[in-house]
Amino acid sequence: MIFRIRKMAKETVKEVGAGVMASRQFQEADLQTHHLVTTVARHSFRVACISFCICHFLYVVFRIRTNWQLLIVCALLHDIGIMGRDIKFENNRICCSQHPKDSMKIAGNLLGGLDDTAADIIGNHMWPMTLTPPHTIEGFIITIADKYSAVTDFLPMNHRESITGTSCV
Ligand SMILES: [Fe+2]
Ligand SMILES: [Fe+2]
Repeated sequence: MIFRIRKMAKETVKEVGAGVMASRQFQEADLQTHHLVTTVARHSFRVACISFCICHFLYVVFRIRTNWQLLIVCALLHDIGIMGRDIKFENNRICCSQHPKDSMKIAGNLLGGLDDTAADIIGNHMWPMTLTPPHTIEGFIITIADKYSAVTDFLPMNHRESITGTSCV
């Protein structure tokens, strides 16, 4: 059951996020290490998969509808602004507050603009490390998926599989 949902999540993210995953920015994101053992791209792919699983659960159990397609696309790009972190940001505190804003700019350029929900998903994904909480259900879902991914990225099954064909790990 869990493996079936995991497989479905991966396939759905690859389908819905195909455009983003084929972009130069996302391909390059598989060249920067993230959370010590994974890459920005692989972590983001996992956040998209976990977000989809949460949406699926919310619908199956509570009949709560979410914009899971938008959430997948935004999850793939939520950390794209962290690329070049060692050069761009003076310290971790600045990186923590600034990279969501940089991600919003890059995502906006890639997607031809962000609506309020997309801006909330990407811009507030670091909450509660940043001050402003998300104000949409999709925004809350990514905060949970991002933290869950961060503490489980170290498991070999969660980072050894390349998703772009190029990788530094
Ligand atoms: Fe982040
Ligand atoms: Fe993240």
